[in-house]
Amino acid sequence: MEEYIDRVLISRESLGKRVAELGAEITQDYEGKKLLVLGILKGAVPFMADLIREIKLPLTYDFMALSSYGASTQSSGVVRILKDLDRGVEDVHILIVEDIVDTGLTLKYLKEILKARNSLSVKVVTLLDKEARRTVAVTPDYNGFLIPDEFVVGYGLDFNQEYRNLPYIGVLKQEAYEILE
Ligand code: IMP
Ligand code: MG
Repeated sequence: MEEYIDRVLISRESLGKRVAELGAEITQDYEGKKLLVLGILKGAVPFMADLIREIKLPLTYDFMALSSYGASTQSSGVVRILKDLDRGVEDVHILIVEDIVDTGLTLKYLKEILKARNSLSVKVVTLLDKEARRTVAVTPDYNGFLIPDEFVVGYGLDFNQEYRNLPYIGVLKQEAYEILE
């Protein structure tokens, strides 16, 4: 599996350290508030699993699965809901957990959908922010790492559904794309 990894961008140790910091910050900010942690399938799963254990508050969690129309490595901004929340959100503060914000289209669309459901608040924590690629104005409230414009995999992030189980964030070799092209 790792033959297609060009280099490690963020090590397992750095991920652990940063996730603990984010958890501590979120713990402070949500003290006394009813918190729903909302993971976006599938990429957010490893990050969310680690993050919730660093949030030292009572909370519930749920998932949504979204599909964006368009090519596999590009987002079109039109998002279809494949799995929705199990219940209403009027009485909770929602914290969306994302793996990466790239163009921002997915997140912008999701925030609009959730706003219409009248939760007490909607904030976003993303593990990675590829800020240089942003095409719409959306800023995550909490960000793990600002990363350069390179295609990354691991710790939930995929290429063609693979590599999600790598324990670090790595940059994919050019050859890995070429096989599919
Ligand atoms: P956005 O709508 O362009 O912000 O796209 C967000 C989604 O694109 C993420 O949730 C990922 O599924 C995917 N994505 C964007 N950049 C990368 C990357 O470098 N590696 C893996 N997936 C990515
Ligand atoms: Mg993906």
